[in-house]
Amino acid sequence: MVGSAMVTAAWALLRSGLNPDTADGSSLDGAWYWSGSGFEPKHTGGAREADLMIDAPAGKLVAVSARVMPAVADLFAMMLPLLPAATPHGLVLAHMGQSLDGHIATAGGHSHVIGGPESLDHLHRLRALVEAVLVGAETACLDRPRLTVRRVVGANPVRVVVDPRGRLPADSPVLTDTAAPTLVLRAGSTAGHLSACAETLAVPAGPDGFAPADILQVLAARGLTRLLIEGGGGTVSRFLAAGRLDRLQLSVAPLLIGSGRPALALPPIDRLDQALRPPTRRWSLGADTLFDMDLRGVAARRSAMDSPATMI
Ligand SMILES: NC(=O)c1ccc[n+]([C@@H]2O[C@H](COP(=O)([O-])OP(=O)(O)OC[C@H]3O[C@@H](n4cnc5c(N)ncnc54)[C@H](OP(=O)(O)O)[C@@H]3O)[C@@H](O)[C@H]2O)c1
Repeated sequence: MVGSAMVTAAWALLRSGLNPDTADGSSLDGAWYWSGSGFEPKHTGGAREADLMIDAPAGKLVAVSARVMPAVADLFAMMLPLLPAATPHGLVLAHMGQSLDGHIATAGGHSHVIGGPESLDHLHRLRALVEAVLVGAETACLDRPRLTVRRVVGANPVRVVVDPRGRLPADSPVLTDTAAPTLVLRAGSTAGHLSACAETLAVPAGPDGFAPADILQVLAARGLTRLLIEGGGGTVSRFLAAGRLDRLQLSVAPLLIGSGRPALALPPIDRLDQALRPPTRRWSLGADTLFDMDLRGVAARRSAMDSPATMI
C-alpha cells in the first residue's frame, strides 16, 4: 500500500506542474520530503536529506533518496522533461506501442492490445500531460478510440482527428461522447459544428495532404501547443519526416506479429550513417521497454516533405 500511495503522490506532484499559475516550475522546483502519505516541500522534523531534488526548468530529477521507490524515481525522471517548465515553447510528443518486430497492428488493423497494463497506464499519463491528443483517420475509424484519461487521475485533453476526406463515422465515440471536445481536421473550408462535442477545422491541403507544420499552426491558433500524436504509424511518420516531433516514445512489447502495419515508414536511406540516432532514454514498463527519443537536436528529414505521400 505504501508503494501505491507513493506512486499516487508522485503523480499528483507531477500534475501540479501543469497548473498555469505555476507551470514555470515554481511549484516543483527544489527539495521534497516524503511524509508517509505525500511529498512535502518543507521538512520540519529536524535535519534530513531531501527525498527528491527537482530542477523543473531542466526537466531533471537531480537527486533521490533511498526512501523513494525505484518505480517512483523513474516516474519523475520520465515525466519531468515533458512538463511545461521544461517545454515552455510547447511539446510535440508521439507515442506508439509496437511489437519487437516493429508492427503496431495486424495487416487488417487489429491492435488490441500490444502493450501490457504498465504501458497503458503510461499512455494515459501522457494524455493527462498534454492539451490535445491527435490520431489519424484510419486509427479513429478502426479503433474507435475515446482518447480520454481513464486509467490514472487527470484531465481529458482535446481530441483531434486528422480526417481530410471526412470519413469518420457519425457514431464514432470522439463525436458522440462529450467527455472532451473534439476537433476534426478537414481539407478545404469546411469549418463548422459536427456534434455537441465536435467541430471541424479547415487545414490547407496540398497534393500530399496536410503539412504537419500547418496542422500545428491550426492547433496553436486554438491555444493547443502541447500535443500527443498517438498514431497510427502513417500519421506519426509524417510528423517525424517533417522534423516536427520533439520526442518519439516507442513502447516495445515482447511479441512478434510477423506482418502487419509498421510503426514507422520513412523514405529509404542508402547508408546507416543517414539513420536517425537521437539521444534515447530507456525504461521498463512491466514486460515492455519504453524508448524515449529526444528529437529536438536531430536534423529533420525534410527532404521527405517534398513527397510525404510516398512514405506511407
Ligand atoms: N499500437 C499503437 O500504439 C497504435 C496506436 C494508434 C493506432 N494503431 C493502429 O494503427 C493502425 C492505423 O495506422 P495507419 O498508419 O494505417 O493510419 P493512421 O495514421 O491512423 O491514419 C492515416 C490517415 O490519416 C489521415 N492523415 C494523417 N496524417 C495526415 C496528413 N498529414 N495529411 C493528410 N491526411 C492525413 C489520412 O486519412 P485518409 O486516408 O482519409 O486520407 C491517412 O491515410 C490501426 O490498425 C490502429 O489500430 C496502433
